This record gives sequence, structure tokens and C-alpha cells, in this order.
Amino acid sequence: MIEIKVSSEREYSVHIGISWQEELLEICRSFDKVLVIAPKKIVELYEIDQVAASSSKLFLHEVADGEDQKTLTSLDGVWSALAQAKIGRKDAIVAIGGGATTDLSGFAAATWLRGIEWFAFPSTLAGAVDAAVGGKTGINSPAGKNLIGSFYSPRAVFIDTSFLSTLSDRDFAAGLAEVIKTGFIASEEILTILDACASLEDARVKVERLIALSVAVKARVVSEDFKEGKLREILNYGHTLGHAIERSEGYTWRHGEAIAIGLVFAAELSHSLCDLPAPVVASHRNLLTKFGLPISYSAHKWDELLDFMRLDKKARSASLRFIGISEVGTPQWLENLQDDQLALIYERISQ
Ligand SMILES: NC(=O)c1ccc[n+]([C@@H]2O[C@H](COP(=O)([O-])OP(=O)(O)OC[C@H]3O[C@@H](n4cnc5c(N)ncnc54)[C@H](O)[C@@H]3O)[C@@H](O)[C@H]2O)c1
Repeated sequence: MIEIKVSSEREYSVHIGISWQEELLEICRSFDKVLVIAPKKIVELYEIDQVAASSSKLFLHEVADGEDQKTLTSLDGVWSALAQAKIGRKDAIVAIGGGATTDLSGFAAATWLRGIEWFAFPSTLAGAVDAAVGGKTGINSPAGKNLIGSFYSPRAVFIDTSFLSTLSDRDFAAGLAEVIKTGFIASEEILTILDACASLEDARVKVERLIALSVAVKARVVSEDFKEGKLREILNYGHTLGHAIERSEGYTWRHGEAIAIGLVFAAELSHSLCDLPAPVVASHRNLLTKFGLPISYSAHKWDELLDFMRLDKKARSASLRFIGISEVGTPQWLENLQDDQLALIYERISQ
């Protein structure tokens, strides 16, 4: 078992290589009541209803799959389940699922009785290396994705990698996009491991080490800059364009697929503005392609993407900026870029 400590508005640990059933029972011993929130798919695959039925302290609330659970209606459903189970300040929420489930459950925990304890059990790679760690929780609204939420860290994160055995290759690859991002901004070792993998199957074998390295980076960054003053922005490498692509695709793509293209754009930007060596740019493309992730996007979409990037930043009261790298592990903040400069870079990744 690997334990990585995070120090944000509270101290907590991320435990990697545990058994989710054992940890759930342990949580039951410490709380009077526990509401488990999980999407139907996970409930069925892992017979969570049977586990919940084994203890009078456990209550189960099933939610919709994917982004459909990050809605106000779905959150209202969680609040009703909390009320029905009479969950009080000394009780807890356990989220078992991907990033959508931990985002929703963490926000429900933040808002119920002005804050109760919650535990994250991520069941996807994206959830394990990114969403469940760092304390950002929230839901989507017609105004945009993830605009409603709170910084509200869990009491602990438990990563049982056996969940990943049922994760589709598509979702596994999408999670790898965040691992690759973490490699370029902060970890040569991640890139060395991924370079040595011949296929996605090889990466599955190495997943525990990849998760530990990625979580260690995220833990260090959020411990230094919980509320994204500046340092935490490095985790957005590839995300400025990536978010615009997600929106352009009507959120039908996996987050990591859009980020993959955003990473190539950020690498090309870094090559032009920060002297990132061409072989490092090429290794972005090689790694992403090896795991079946997209690396280019439609040439006709540029104007729309630029609008979306501006709207996204406006909604968050921020200026349009990109994270670049001057070498592996050395992030740079890129601001005040001209539209024609960005358009030229886009030509290098579009088709
Ligand atoms: N809070 C943060 O800091 C943060 C960071 C990154 C992403 N996110 C959010 O996370 C979400 C994306 O995460 P995600 O990719 O995990 O999405 P997700 O939760 O939608 O899961 C993706 C799919 O995998 C399925 N799934 C989950 N676990 C499985 C398993 N073990 N076996 C088989 N199928 C399984 C889900 O049912 C779903 O269909 C987005 O909503 C994004 O906004 C949040």
C-alpha cells in the first residue's frame, strides 16, 4: 500500500493499492451512517447493493452515468437521499465511481448541513490521478461545465486498482492523457515508463506506479496552492484548448481525448515561445498516438474554439492564458498572445 499525504484546507491521505470492501467496512466502524453514492453501472459491476445490504449503517444512492449525474436535478436527488437516510453531521458520504461521481458527491458533502465528511473511491484512471485528488467538487449547469462547485477536500481517497480491470480501453486511454500531462509538467519517470510501454495493455500492467507518480505530483501542487493562485495552473497544461474542444464536441468526447489534442497544441506553443526542443514535441504526439488518443482537430473549427476559450475565461474572470513548458518538468505561464500567433500554431495541429 502506498500512502501520499495532501495538505490543503485539511490534511488527508491518498491510499493506493487497498481493497475497497475492507476500507468501506472500516469507514462503517467510524461513522453511524454512511451514504454510498455510485452510478448504476458500478453498482451492477461490483454488486454494491449487496455490500450495502450487509450493514444497517450503509445506505446506497444510485446516480446516472457520466456527466448526466453532474446536474442540479441529480444533486437534488442526492440531498433527498441524505434526508431520507437522516444523514447528520457525524455521518459520511462515500463516492464510488469516476470523476463525475466524486465531483457530484464531494459537492453534495460540501453543501449538506454546511459540510459533512466524504471519502472518494475513484473507479476510473482519470478519477484516480486527477478528479478525486485536490478538493475541487462541483456540477455542471446551462451556464457551463464545472462552474458551480466548491473546494472541499475528502477525509481520504482510497484507490483500489482492481476497479480498472473493467474500465474500457477508451476510458483507460482518456485517463492516460492526464498521466502524460503530468509527465511533461513534472515527472521524467512517468515519461520513461510510458516510453517503455509498447501498448495500452503494457500501461495497464504499470498502472499502480503511474498512479502513484501522478498523485504525488498533484498532491505536491495542491498542497502548495489549493485555490489555484498560480502554481496549480500548471495542472491545466493542455486544458485551455482541450476545454474548448470538449465544448465544441457537445461534451460527447471523454475529457482526456480533448486534452490530448490540447497537449499537442500546448507543446507546439511551447516550441515556438519557450524553445521546447522539437523531439519533446514529437514525443507528445508519439505517446498520445501509441495509446490511441487523438492529436489533431478540424482546421475549420479554429474561430469557434477561440470564441469558446474566451467565453470560458470570461466566465471564470480570467484572461486567456496557456501553460507551456520550456523543458520536461519546467512549466511556463504564457499570456497576452496574439490571435494570429495562436492561429499559426493551430495550423500545425489541424487537418
Ligand atoms: N475535480 C477535479 O479536479 C476534476 C479533474 C478532472 C476531471 N474532473 C471531472 O471528472 C469527470 C471525468 O472523469 P471520468 O473520466 O472518470 O468520468 P466518469 O465518472 O463519467 O466515468 C467515465 C465512464 O466510465 C465508467 N466507469 C467508471 N468506473 C468504471 C469501472 N471501474 N469499470 C467500468 N466502467 C467504469 C462510468 O460509468 C462512465 O461511463 C468530468 O466530469 C470532469 O469534469 C474533475
